[in-house]
Amino acid sequence: MSQPPTAAPLTVVSVSAEVAPWSKVGGLADVASALPVALAERGHRVLGVAPRHAAYDDAWDTGLTARFGLFGQRHEVRFFHARVDGVDRVFVDHPAIRRGGVYGTDQGGYADNLLRFALLSRAALVAPALLPGFSLPTDGADTVFLAHDWHAGLVPLYLAARYRHHGLLSRARSILVVHNLAHQGRYAPGVLPGLDLEARWRSVLDMDGHVNVLKGGIAAADRVATVSPRYAHEITTPEHGFGLDPILRMRGPVPDGIRNGLDTRSWDPATDPHLPANFSADDLSGKAACKAALQQELGLPVDPTAPLVGCVGRLDAQKGIDVLLPVLPWLRDQGAQVVVLGSGSPLLQDALRRVNGDRVRVRIGFDGPLSRRITAASDLFVVPSRFEPCGLTQIQAMRYGAVPVVAGTGGLFDTVPPYDPVHQQGHGFRAWPGSAESLRHAFGDALYTWRHWPDSFAGLRDRGMRHDWSWNLPAAAWEQAMTAALDAPAWA
Ligand code: ADP
Ligand code: GLC
Repeated sequence: MSQPPTAAPLTVVSVSAEVAPWSKVGGLADVASALPVALAERGHRVLGVAPRHAAYDDAWDTGLTARFGLFGQRHEVRFFHARVDGVDRVFVDHPAIRRGGVYGTDQGGYADNLLRFALLSRAALVAPALLPGFSLPTDGADTVFLAHDWHAGLVPLYLAARYRHHGLLSRARSILVVHNLAHQGRYAPGVLPGLDLEARWRSVLDMDGHVNVLKGGIAAADRVATVSPRYAHEITTPEHGFGLDPILRMRGPVPDGIRNGLDTRSWDPATDPHLPANFSADDLSGKAACKAALQQELGLPVDPTAPLVGCVGRLDAQKGIDVLLPVLPWLRDQGAQVVVLGSGSPLLQDALRRVNGDRVRVRIGFDGPLSRRITAASDLFVVPSRFEPCGLTQIQAMRYGAVPVVAGTGGLFDTVPPYDPVHQQGHGFRAWPGSAESLRHAFGDALYTWRHWPDSFAGLRDRGMRHDWSWNLPAAAWEQAMTAALDAPAWA
C-alpha cells in the first residue's frame, strides 16, 4: 500500500555492496532491497546502486559508461539498469567487480576489494546524472546519498572532495549508514595514492597509520545513521565502538538509530510459497503442519509436543554460535528439538557438524527457502549474538509465529521486549550477550512458559505476529533524517 510522503519528494541514491534478490550475503541485502521500495512508495525518486557481481537476467545494458582514474589506471565501468517496484536499480559492471562472490571466496576477501568498492562509489556519484529519465534538479538540492557500510564509505568522501563542486551535486548530502562496525575496510597506507584524493582527504581516511574507509566515510558524511536506536548508543562506547567510538562521539551525541523494517509482503506466512502450509495469527493450523513437515524432512520425530528451536544466520563470531553450543545438550535433555541453518566460518561449521545428531539437526549452507521453512516450523527461535546492529532473523521469526530467545544487545534488545508475565506483555526472552549460562536461563523460562502456561505462550506468539514490522514507520524516520541532512549545511 502506498504511503503518503510527509516530506517534499527527495531524490535518494542508495549505494550498497549487496542487494536482494540480485546478491545477498546477509541483512544488508534485505535492507538495500526493501528500504528503497518503501521510500519510492512514499513518493520519492529512488536509485539503488550496487555492483553487477554476475549477469542479472532482468538488468539491461544501458550502453552508458564512465571512466575513473584509480590505482594508476583508467577504469571504465558500464551501467546496467532494471526498474523494479518503482525503484531504478543500477548495477555497476567492471571485470574486477564481476566475480560471482560479493566480498570474496571461502578462502577470504578479494585482494582488490578497495578498487572494487572505490569503483562502486565513484560510479554511484555519476549514475543519477547519467541515467536517462532520472534527471537531477540543477544543484542536487533534494538529493541524498545513502552510503551503506564501508563498501560505500568513499561516497561521502568523493562527494565532499569532488562532486560537491559540480553544479549537479553542489547541494547534495550524504548519510553514512552503519550496518556493522566490525567491518571497516582497513588497508596499509600504501594504497592511499591510488584513491586519487588530495592530501586533506587522505588524512580523513587515516586511522592509526592505516587507511580506514569506514572511518573516512563517518568523518566526511553529512550525517551518520545506524539500524537500531540501541546500536546507535552502543557504538559510541569503547565496548562496541571497534575503535571508532571517539570519531562517532565527535559527530554528535549519537548517530540516528532507525530500526530496520521487514519486507512483510515477501515475509508473510499467509502467502509464502516456500512453506508447505500457510498460516496467520488468526489460524495457526498451517504452522503445526509446517512443524510436522520440517520434522519429517529432517528425520526428527514428528512430535507436536516437542518444542522446536530454530536458528538461522551467518556463522561468524558476531552471531554467538559458540554461546549456543554448550546449551545444546541441556536443550536436548529438556526434550527440545533444535534446527540450525548457517554458513560461514569453517571452524564454526565443523563445530556445528559435530553436534548434528540426536534431536539436533544442522544444515550448512545458504538456503532461502529452507530458512523460511525453519522459521515457520519453529516454536522458539534463538539469536545468541555477541552484538547485533539490528538483526532481521528475530523479526522474521516473530512474523512467522516463533517466539525469540535473544541476546539483549543492539536491535535484538530493541525488537524483543522481554516477557512480562504480570502484565502479559513482551515479545520473547532475553539473555546476557556472550553468556551461555544466561542463555540457558532464558531458554528455561521460555520452555517453562511453553509447557505450563500455553495461553501466555500463545499471547507472546500472537503479539509478535501482529506487530507492525513493515517498513512504513522506519521509512518515515529515514525521510526525516534525510530532510534534516538537506536542511543543514554540508559537514565537510
Ligand atoms: P546479518 O546481516 O548480520 O547477517 P540479519 O539478521 O540482519 O543478519 O540478516 C540475515 C539475513 O540473511 C536474513 O534475511 C536471514 O534470513 C538471511 N540468512 C542468514 N543466513 C542464512 C542462510 N544460511 N540461509 C538463508 N538465509 C540466511
Ligand atoms: C548487518 C548487521 C545486522 C543488520 C543488517 C541489516 O549485517 O549484522 O544486524 O540487521 O546489517 O541492517
